[in-house]
Amino acid sequence: MLVQRKSISAKLLSLLVFLQGALIVTGGSVRLTGSGLGCPTWPECTPGSYTPIPNQAEGQLHAWIEFGNRLLTFVLFFCALAVVIIAIRKSKIAENKQRIRSLAGLQVLGILGQGILGGITVLTDLHPATVAGHYILSIFLIAGAISLRYELIGKKTQEVEGVIKFFIPVLVWLTLLVLIAGTVVTGSGPHAGDEKAERFGFDPRTVSWIHADLVIALIVTTLILLFVARQMGSIEIGNCLAVFLIIILAQGLIGYTQYFTGLPEALVAAHLIGSTLVWGWVWSLAKIAQSGFKLQRFT
Ligand code: HEM
Repeated sequence: MLVQRKSISAKLLSLLVFLQGALIVTGGSVRLTGSGLGCPTWPECTPGSYTPIPNQAEGQLHAWIEFGNRLLTFVLFFCALAVVIIAIRKSKIAENKQRIRSLAGLQVLGILGQGILGGITVLTDLHPATVAGHYILSIFLIAGAISLRYELIGKKTQEVEGVIKFFIPVLVWLTLLVLIAGTVVTGSGPHAGDEKAERFGFDPRTVSWIHADLVIALIVTTLILLFVARQMGSIEIGNCLAVFLIIILAQGLIGYTQYFTGLPEALVAAHLIGSTLVWGWVWSLAKIAQSGFKLQRFT
């Protein structure tokens, strides 16, 4: 263990994971409150000022919601910088020094990338492809932050074999597909962030069903894996899979409810929070299982 579990460094590593997830939720709130163009330009908020100004045409509430999301990126940036310093100091004697430092450096680069992508999103009037790109980049940054935390704090791993070894990476890829399909549903739906914003133009019903079918495939795969893990006596992995099943079932329930009730903002926000939990859990599962052919290099 390179970093003690209860130390400030460990807390900063956990904070980084939390803030990477929080950025998805605050970004979603910008969209759901119709504040996507609350700051109509970038990097300034409004021409001539980096912060919202009194009597701004977009309205104070929209301007501050959008500006608040920009501010969170700064907090995240400084947290990632602190983590880089921790990674450099603590990895001096580590075997996988290069990997730890690369993971930390990629966090900083990724957050800078988020800032630039945020700018492109505003300048393209919230084009759905850039909004989806924002989400997907966040997903990779969450994965990187979790991996870094595992490298530095240590991990309880369980050797897995056979079907489980093969299928845990399948579970990760399938989850990634579900998330990407979800962003296409969002880009085809009503919560664009501003009435000026373009939409993908896909039929929302069709893309929602494709997204939900992928979720059903994910649920079935998880159920089979859970059964096999119990049969093989892999207790740790079995427990992680059982919790994963509960999370995806709850998330699926929110998904169907929001779909059939006309996408109320509160449920869409809950679905967004759920998506970060689903992803964080499946990525941690891959770390614990130390499974994954080519995926292992990334986890
Ligand atoms: C494991 C289960 C699920 C996961 C991880 C998941 C994940 C996601 C993600 C990541 C998004 C995009 C969020 C964004 O871009 O801001 C999304 C959107 C959406 N999902 Fe799911 N989803 C799941 C299940 C379902 C199910 C079963 C349905 C049922 C039809 C559903 C319906 C929707 C709808 C309608 C949207 C668009 C919401 C909007 O307009 O913003 N989801 N989902």
